[in-house]
Parts: sequence; structure tokens; C-alpha cells
Amino acid sequence: MMSKSLLPQYWYVVADASEVTQHAVLSRTVLDESLACYRDAEGRAIVAQDRCIHRSARLSSGTVRDGKLSCRYHGWVYGESGSIISIPCEGGAEFARKCGMKAKTFTTAEQDGYIYVCLTPGEHTPPRPLTLRELGSVWKGRVRLQSRFHNSLSNCVENYIDVPHTAYVHHGIFRKPNGEPLRTTVTRCEGRIDITYHGERLNLGTFSAFLNPSGAEIEHSDHFFAPNVTSVHYKMPGGYRYSISSQSIPVTAMETLVYTDISYDFGIWTAISKAMVKRQAQEVLKQDIDILNEQGRNIEKYGERFYTTSADLIHTLTSEVISGLRNGKSPAELSAEQKEITFCV
Ligand code: FES
Ligand SMILES: [Fe+2]
Repeated sequence: MMSKSLLPQYWYVVADASEVTQHAVLSRTVLDESLACYRDAEGRAIVAQDRCIHRSARLSSGTVRDGKLSCRYHGWVYGESGSIISIPCEGGAEFARKCGMKAKTFTTAEQDGYIYVCLTPGEHTPPRPLTLRELGSVWKGRVRLQSRFHNSLSNCVENYIDVPHTAYVHHGIFRKPNGEPLRTTVTRCEGRIDITYHGERLNLGTFSAFLNPSGAEIEHSDHFFAPNVTSVHYKMPGGYRYSISSQSIPVTAMETLVYTDISYDFGIWTAISKAMVKRQAQEVLKQDIDILNEQGRNIEKYGERFYTTSADLIHTLTSEVISGLRNGKSPAELSAEQKEITFCV
């Protein structure tokens, strides 16, 4: 018998903090759970099941004024912590207070300009989401982007730490295929995967001349934190560096919303680089959306039938963690791994 998924026990970004206000309600879905997000009069983020407890209209089609959400069907009003504060056809507030009812709400955390939700707190729930600092997104230049993919959590996460595709999907921007062998150390311990690249030098695409004019060895590492977070870090010999962290939110089995934080330190150029970094990142994400949507449609048609080679080790280790969690298996039950692989890019 299949065990209960552990995925709902983890934290997921439900929205950028600026998207959740006291004056509008935002509709989101995480792991098939429909959510209505708003802020109550105290400014606290409320993430409620998107279902009015009266007659099941969607709360996200209601209106919010000064932190009070009115259902658009019969006007029941939800306030602090999702409690019912007025039932108009019963005379308003007094009756509501006596009833003491509230919407089904979920545990939230606000951190790094994000609202996080944990649908089912349990023994695997971390005390709080990983911070951007812990993910290494610490440099002065900052860009945040949001993208939506018609593909699974696992395939999206794998894409963010998949070097070989960069030479093809992001031809020229990231790399060009030149058959250069890249030696890689991969370790997996519980729900974390660390990937260190050795001897990477020149193949950095359009910006090679700016990022690494000497062509000396760069420092590059990628990381995965179960079940849905990745970070990649590049440090150039001259000191320029950038980090990209991606938080992939499983909307449904085949839809994933991703928030990407790019932080960069380009020395004196940092302050004026934002527009360029944003434009390049948008272009790269557009290319990823295109290929992942295409892959997603094919998977729906033919099933997920993959042919895996040794160069796909990172994919294999990552998808084992995610599918394990989906089937109720804790990452601690998976074998610890340390391997060296070399693939050509
Ligand atoms: S269904 Fe929401 S007030 Fe009736
Ligand atoms: Fe990509």
C-alpha cells in the first residue's frame, strides 16, 4: 500500500509578500490545495482553504477591505486569523461572534519577502523555511522572478541544476557545446545534494569576456534541498560572483510555480547591472519554460519513460528524493552517496 505523501509537511512559497495585501485576495494552489491569501487587519498573512464554510463558494472570488474578506455569495465576513466576524443575514457581528467559526487556515511564515505555507505540519516540518542567506543569495545586486511551468516538481527542480542542457537550451547565453569534459563531485546526504564542478574555465557564454577575462578556473557548485529548493553559485577568479536560488512550488502534479532569486556582485558594475541581469534571466527562464512545457506535454502523452545514462546521476539522485517523499519515504531512509562523474559540455 502506498504511504501518505510527506510533501505537505514542507514549507512552500505561496506568494511574494507584496502580492498579499489587506485590499485584495490572491488565489494560489499548492499540492492541489486551493488557497485564498490575504492580510488581516493586523497585517498578518492569512492562507485559507479557498472554500467558504457557509456554502462552499470560493473565498478567492470575494473582496477584501481593510483586512476583512467578504464572500461574494452571501457576504459572510472573515477577519483576524480567518474567523467569521459577520453573518449579514443573521444580523451581522453578534451572531457571528457567538458562533465562533473560522475558515480552515494553514500555518504560514513570512521571511525574505515571501509568504510560506506549510499545509500539514508534522515530524518532517523544518522549524522555518531556509533563508536566502542560508541559500547563499547574499550579494548586493538582487533580481526576483516568477515563472510557471507545465511540468512536474521533479523535472523543474532537476532543470535548475542540470548543466548539460545549458549548452543547448541556453545556447550562447550560458555555454556552447564544445565537448569539454567537466569533472564533478556529487554527494547526497538525507535530503541534500551538493555538486562541485572542477576545472571549469572558459565556456561561460556571452559574458565570458566580462565575467572571466583571464579564463582561469572558476568556482562553481550547485545544491538541492529537499523537496523543492535549489541554489547555484559561481565565483570568478577576479572576484565577480553570482548565486541563483529557485523555489519550485508543486501546484498540481503537472504544474509548478517557481520563484527565482538572483543575487550578484559585479564590483563597481553591480549597481548598474540590474536591468541587464533581469533581461538575461527572463530570456533564460523563457527558454526553460519552453523546453519544460514541451517535455511536460510529451510526458502526459507517453508517460515518464526516461533512458538514463551515468551523466544523469544528478537527475536520478534528485528524483529519488522527491518521489520518495511523495510515497511517504523520508530522505533519511535513502542511501548516502558520494560519486565522481565526468560529462562533456
Ligand atoms: S457561500 Fe460564502 S457566504 Fe454563503
Ligand atoms: Fe535552464
